[in-house]
Amino acid sequence: MIYFLAAIAAIAGFLFGYDEGIIAVARPLLDKDFPMDPLVGGFMTAAVPLGALVAASIAGRITDRFGRRRALMAAAALFTVGSLMAAGITAVWMLIVARLILGLAIGLAAVTAPLYISESAPLRIRGALVSTYQLAITVGILASYLTGLAIDSDADIPWNDDGMWRLMFALGALPGVLFFAGLVFLPESPRWLILKGFAAEARTSLQRLRGAASPVEGEFDEMVSTARAEVGKKSGYKALLEPKIRPAVIVGAGLFFLQQLSGINAVIYYAPEIFNHAGFDSTSTQILATVGIGTVNLLTTILAMYLIDKIGRRPLLILGFVGTSATMLTIALAVINPTLVPSWVIIVALMLYIASFAISIGPLPHVLMSEIFPLRARGPGMSMASISNWGFNFVVVFTFPLMLAGPGLAFTFTLFSVICLGGIIFTLTRVPETTGHSLEAIEDHLNSGKPFASLRREVPAE
Ligand code: BGC
Repeated sequence: MIYFLAAIAAIAGFLFGYDEGIIAVARPLLDKDFPMDPLVGGFMTAAVPLGALVAASIAGRITDRFGRRRALMAAAALFTVGSLMAAGITAVWMLIVARLILGLAIGLAAVTAPLYISESAPLRIRGALVSTYQLAITVGILASYLTGLAIDSDADIPWNDDGMWRLMFALGALPGVLFFAGLVFLPESPRWLILKGFAAEARTSLQRLRGAASPVEGEFDEMVSTARAEVGKKSGYKALLEPKIRPAVIVGAGLFFLQQLSGINAVIYYAPEIFNHAGFDSTSTQILATVGIGTVNLLTTILAMYLIDKIGRRPLLILGFVGTSATMLTIALAVINPTLVPSWVIIVALMLYIASFAISIGPLPHVLMSEIFPLRARGPGMSMASISNWGFNFVVVFTFPLMLAGPGLAFTFTLFSVICLGGIIFTLTRVPETTGHSLEAIEDHLNSGKPFASLRREVPAE
């Protein structure tokens, strides 16, 4: 049951990746029917991150009030409506509204899906299961890149003229419906049920998740006693201001700041342009290399899922920051000295950059944000982390073209490299090792007032 739950919740990740990437490949076709000036076009593209930012800021309240499952159902409905609306537009303003709706769905789901998985997963494989969400994002991105490849490979194919973009948008409704249908069969998060005082329902839900034959007493008792200890304490957004909870807020928001400022979406959104800057001027080479990036991103995320619960969060984060910092610097140096460094070095470095990201800085902020907040502040805490994710995503995507035109690629990538170096220090001084600890044990450590980063690994009993 838990695998089914993770797979269904991860559909939200697929839609996140698909809706992020699809606009890049649909845009040239769309422009034939609805020409847009740069400002309108930019706003239309940015409508998704904007909607996501708005939804992420209220998602914590929504999931705490109505439950994880119902919040995801609302997101699934929004995904379906937004996709169909985008497919059927007769004016540009309608597309902007449709993309705002899609953004709202993404923002709500981006907080709720990892939370729902984390609260329902058994400790031993929690990291791997939450990472399926990130895996699904990478599948969505690759799916949208592949659509681009299918269209570019033969400019004469008939669908290029026939409003093919409508079908591309409409396809997003399918996973939306599947997502909704799957949720109907899933139980609510046991921890949320306990939070709301439905202990009997929580026990039934936990038993369904673990299977009828598995003993759940120990796990259930731990959940209940932690929830009891929290009674009477502040909850919701107010709780985030407490000095004891602040370290978790810093880790959640800080990791997403670092994830975005590592430059990932400069690469994901602008890969063809980066290859162009690096001297690869054939469009097919650029798109092929872009598909290569999407593939490396996906495959390495699978490896990360295997490693996260084995070698732990902190070592993987450090590995990721070292790798991204070194590769960004290599690309910057190669761009500065084109005569000394052959241009294939840039492609290899970019692939290694993506691999370093995907093994670590991609999945881990999602995993950690679902683990570090105490139950009473988990929804709002994850909202804060997601605001950081979408806010800095928007900043990087919006400023990257300006940075390219101004200080240039080498300067920008050096800046990303320095920020990744900062990520190493941040990990060492701020990030706790949550591997092997139950969510309740992490909460106890936070409450103890000891430095958050002093939590060390515990190997769970098999
Ligand atoms: C990030 C996205 C990014 C994606 C790339 C996610 O973890 O939040 O902004 O596009 O990884 O795989």
